Amino acid sequence: MWLTSSSVGRKFIMALTGAALVLFITFHCVMNSVAIFWPSAYNAICEFLGANWYALVATMGLAALFVIHIIYAFWLTIQNRKARGADRYAVTARPKGVEWSSQNMLVLGIVVVAFLALHLYQFWAKMQLVEITSHSIEGWHQYDGASVPPTAGTLFIQEVFSQWWVVVAYLVGFIALWFHMTHGFWSMFQSIGWDSTAWIPRLKKISDWWTTIVVGLFAIQAVVFYVQAQDSFYINDKDLEKQYIESFQEHFKTEAENMDQMSQEAQTLVQKYQESLEKFTPTVKAEAEAQQKAQQEAQQRAYEEYMKQQAAAQAATETNEEPQN
Ligand code: HEM
Repeated sequence: MWLTSSSVGRKFIMALTGAALVLFITFHCVMNSVAIFWPSAYNAICEFLGANWYALVATMGLAALFVIHIIYAFWLTIQNRKARGADRYAVTARPKGVEWSSQNMLVLGIVVVAFLALHLYQFWAKMQLVEITSHSIEGWHQYDGASVPPTAGTLFIQEVFSQWWVVVAYLVGFIALWFHMTHGFWSMFQSIGWDSTAWIPRLKKISDWWTTIVVGLFAIQAVVFYVQAQDSFYINDKDLEKQYIESFQEHFKTEAENMDQMSQEAQTLVQKYQESLEKFTPTVKAEAEAQQKAQQEAQQRAYEEYMKQQAAAQAATETNEEPQN
């Protein structure tokens, strides 16, 4: 088949999978922006894109794209090196300044893959993978001694981005991604035959702009998440807290459904959910405590008032009952 046997076919596969990955990365970047402007909506999307049938198919498709893109990258690079030595590209209508990334596509790709491995371990493995593999709070990720619901994306952002080294590692990954994408983007057009001398510089401009906006946004997001995480924003925000409560309650309802409510197992489960819930809802907890305290004080005042009235009534009765001589 020409897609695997010819060099043009293999480049076509690279271009096609690359284009799909660019679309995914653009979508992912837009999704992350939601976490900044409307964090509770972001969690709702995380829940929607969680472990349902469509999301699983999409994730598998995405994984296949990455795997094919990577395997073909190695294959093409090895073949190009064998065939041409250092001069690996046949097309010469290459704009100035792209040589460096063009010659280092494989290395840049490896840095991007290393970033991706770290990133998937930090998020996907604790979110979607946990949703697929575990139906109990026992299997959830532990953060600061408490269990995190796999759908609470903002709590994972809180944990991951509160560490400065993560921001540095991500920025390194983003730089590699920028070089990798700026080169890959326009060479993708070349690969599908759109390689006129007039169009290549224009495509290069488009690819530079697109990549700079997307990768730049990723970098800004990482810094914003870091700043927000320093203030524990994703734990103290009231809207998010309400959402975490709902999430804990929903998961608890599903998990406890077929349990004997009086059993030891159910009691342990209640305790586990309660403890984790309290950890991630400090404001709601503090408000409930303040409300309880205010109620107790009001009761105390009412009781004291009542006792005062009783004493006054008693005194009045005693005065009236005094014998009249
Ligand atoms: C500030 C930067 C980023 C943040 C905050 C972020 C956040 C996330 C989160 C929360 C998830 C888990 C979604 C879920 O499982 O429900 C995720 C998944 C993923 N991310 Fe990112 N991401 C960032 C950058 C990137 C970049 C630059 C790439 C690619 C080069 C990338 C590739 C992926 C992939 C492949 C997945 C798995 C997709 C899936 O579950 O279907 N991410 N990301």
